[in-house]
Amino acid sequence: MLILGFESSCDETACAVVEYADGALTVKSDVVASQVEVHRLYGGVVPEIASRAHIEAISSITYEALGRAGVSLSQIDAVAVTSHPGLIGALLVAVNFAKSLAVSHGIPLVEVDHMKAHIAAACLSENPPSPPFLAAALSGGHTSIYLVETPTRYRLLGATRDDAIGEAFDKIGRVIGIPYPAGAGFDALAREGFVLATGKEEDFWDAYAASSAYRNREMYLPSPATKDGTLDFSFSGLKTAAINLLHRYEMRGEELNRPLFAARYTYEAVEAVATKLKLAMTRHPGLDLVVSGGVAANSHLRARLGALCREMGVTLHLPARALCGDNGAMVAAQGAFEFAEGHLATSALNGRASDD
Ligand code: KG4
Ligand code: ZN
Repeated sequence: MLILGFESSCDETACAVVEYADGALTVKSDVVASQVEVHRLYGGVVPEIASRAHIEAISSITYEALGRAGVSLSQIDAVAVTSHPGLIGALLVAVNFAKSLAVSHGIPLVEVDHMKAHIAAACLSENPPSPPFLAAALSGGHTSIYLVETPTRYRLLGATRDDAIGEAFDKIGRVIGIPYPAGAGFDALAREGFVLATGKEEDFWDAYAASSAYRNREMYLPSPATKDGTLDFSFSGLKTAAINLLHRYEMRGEELNRPLFAARYTYEAVEAVATKLKLAMTRHPGLDLVVSGGVAANSHLRARLGALCREMGVTLHLPARALCGDNGAMVAAQGAFEFAEGHLATSALNGRASDD
């Protein structure tokens, strides 16, 4: 079967055609119209502008996705769309567009949870995970750990109690002058810091933890891993401590070593994820792990979790970097799973900002 997937929950308008046959998913086309240039001017996503930009882009990217896949609407077996969570005005654009297509062409409509879609991105590979497995969705709005019981049934094991990991990179990145979204720039700056602190070009994680740069109390930052035995996070403390640290440097007129600061911040953020995922693996032994969402593109996180999973004897599934951020293929993939279980939406489908 062929699924047309739509995504407009934040600042990416996306449409993709995915084939689902004999239990395997194949991406036929995947078109993403990014708005980051527009929002960069404001240092973050402006919801009103996002909604308008989605409206401008959605028709043309649909033609493009169908054209690149070489299929017509009459060949599409289901239309899948992200209905939640996200910015409500932004979500409504793709929800209404998908609904209109489905109703006017008599195609079944499927609603998709954006976080499940992020995890389903890992199924767009040659070696997809099969449930049950553990999953972490690390994005601009979420830091959540799940037990994926079936392709459509998720149990939330832990989550952030305040800021998300991507938000923590974006907000502090903005303060140290990295353009929005700061994730990729932070990644590169931190790399400079790790190399500087260890003298090593790669495999620097353990050497960094043993380095004098990491022992420097002036750059102390707290761990976002909660200390209460849960699988929860709190990134607001890390963010506030970083802002205080930056103010301290400014007040003293001292120049901040930005790469060393970025390395320290990244180390704490990534170690917190590794700590909680290790706990999850210990509590749920023998399961594969999927890590997805925009922050799963982070090179340090990918390397650290690779090492952790080797140590734990766990198979790690990381989507290709291009599929970590928001895209339509992941929505179509989750849509295929929902459709296969008979989960169809009606023409009364609405968007909603909340997680459930
Ligand atoms: O999943 P996503 O595209 O959108 C949401 O659903 O939020 O995630 C976007 C987030 C942003 O916060 C962005 O800065 C972050 O992913 N990100 C990264 C990297 N690339 C993107 N964070 C850390 N390192 C990266 N290389
Ligand atoms: Zn996302």
